Amino acid sequence: MKVPMLDLVAEHAPYRGELQSAFERVLDSGRFVLGPEVEGFEREIGAWIGVPHAVGVSNGSDALLLALQAVGVGPGDEVICPTYTFFATAGAVARLGAKPVFVDSAECCYNLRADQVAAKIGPKTKAIIAVHLFGQCADMDPILTAAQKHGIPVIEDAAQALGAKDKGRQAGTMGTIGTFSFFPTKNLGALGEGGLITTKDASLAEKIRKLRVHGAKQKYFHEMIGGNFRLHELQAAFLRVKLRHLNSALRKRRQSAEKLLAGLRDKWSAIMPLDSCVCRGTGGAKDVKPGTVLLPFSCHSAEGEHTWNQFVIRVTGPGNRDALKEKLAAVSIQTEVYYPRAMHEQACFDHVDGAYPISEKLCMETMALPLSGSFSAPLI
Ligand SMILES: Cc1ncc(COP(=O)(O)O)c(C=O)c1O
Repeated sequence: MKVPMLDLVAEHAPYRGELQSAFERVLDSGRFVLGPEVEGFEREIGAWIGVPHAVGVSNGSDALLLALQAVGVGPGDEVICPTYTFFATAGAVARLGAKPVFVDSAECCYNLRADQVAAKIGPKTKAIIAVHLFGQCADMDPILTAAQKHGIPVIEDAAQALGAKDKGRQAGTMGTIGTFSFFPTKNLGALGEGGLITTKDASLAEKIRKLRVHGAKQKYFHEMIGGNFRLHELQAAFLRVKLRHLNSALRKRRQSAEKLLAGLRDKWSAIMPLDSCVCRGTGGAKDVKPGTVLLPFSCHSAEGEHTWNQFVIRVTGPGNRDALKEKLAAVSIQTEVYYPRAMHEQACFDHVDGAYPISEKLCMETMALPLSGSFSAPLI
C-alpha cells in the first residue's frame, strides 16, 4: 500500500533508541511481571490524565470486564451501551452474564445518543458504558446526570480516546471508571497488547488491583474471583517511552486532521453532515444527494478536544462507501470500515429490542481514511 492506514515502523523510528534502551533495562532487571515499569507507567499516565488511580491491565477488553466486575455487574443485570462500537464494549457485558441494552448513535459524532441513555434506564440497569468513539468524547453531562439520578455507575470506554476532552475534562476522569486500550493502532500503542483502568475511587482501584491477580492482595489468599489481567513489564517500559512523545504525537494528528478536512472539502466537495451537535436530540444529517462525502463532525469545538484516533468520513447512499473504498484500494490507499455491523445485529447477541436506524446507516456509510493521506482527484 502506498498510503497505509498506519505505518508503525515509521512512527517508531524517531525514538527507536529509547525503545531499545527500555527493552535492555527490563532485560537486565530480570523483572517481567508487575515490577517498577508497571508502577512507573501507572504513576506517569495517571499524572498525564489527571486521575489519582491508574491500574495497568492486559488490554482494553479486559479493562472493561474488570471495570464492570468491580461495580458489581453479574448475571441478570443490564448494562446500557452503544450498538455502534467495537465488539469488546458489549462483549464484556455478556462475558459477565449480563445483558447489553443498546442505544442508537448521534449523527454528529457517531457516539451514543445521550437522550436515549436516560430513556433506557430501568430496574435492572446496573451500569452505563459511554464509548468515546474514534477519539472524541461522548456528550457526558446528560449521561452523568441520568446516572446520578438513579445511582448507577458510568464506565467510560476510552479505548480510542486517550487525551480527548469534554468541556475541558479528560476522557477517563468523568465517570466512575475509565478504561483504555494500548492496542498498537491506538494513539498510545504498545508494541503488543496493553490496557488501563482509571478511577478517582480508592476502594474501586484497590478492588481492581486484586481482580487483576486472581482476586488476591496477599498471594494465594483469594478474596474474590479475578483472573490474570496483568500489564507486562516490557509493554509498560515501551509505553513510558511513547507517553513522553504523546503530546507532540497528538498535536501532529490534529494538524493532519485539519489538513485532511480542508483537502477533502476542496477536492471532493465534502461537507459537514450538520450544522450543530445532535447528541441530545433527534436532528438528522443534511439532506444530500447520494455519493456526497460527509466529513467527521467535532461536537466539542474547543481546540484539542478531539484526538483523531480515526478520521471517519461518511459516503451517502447505498453502495457508495464500498465503491469509494475499492477505488482508493486500486490506487494503493488503504481504508478501514469501523464497523460494518452494529452490535444488535451480531449473531451472538440474539435480541433486538429497539430500533437503531442511525447506527445501521453508519455501518453502511462510514469509512476511516489514513490521517496521513492527501487525496487529489474526486474519486466518486
Ligand atoms: C471502543 C473499544 N473498546 C474496547 C476495545 C478493546 O481494546 P483491546 O483491543 O485492547 O482489547 C477497543 C479496541 O479497539 C475499542 O475500540
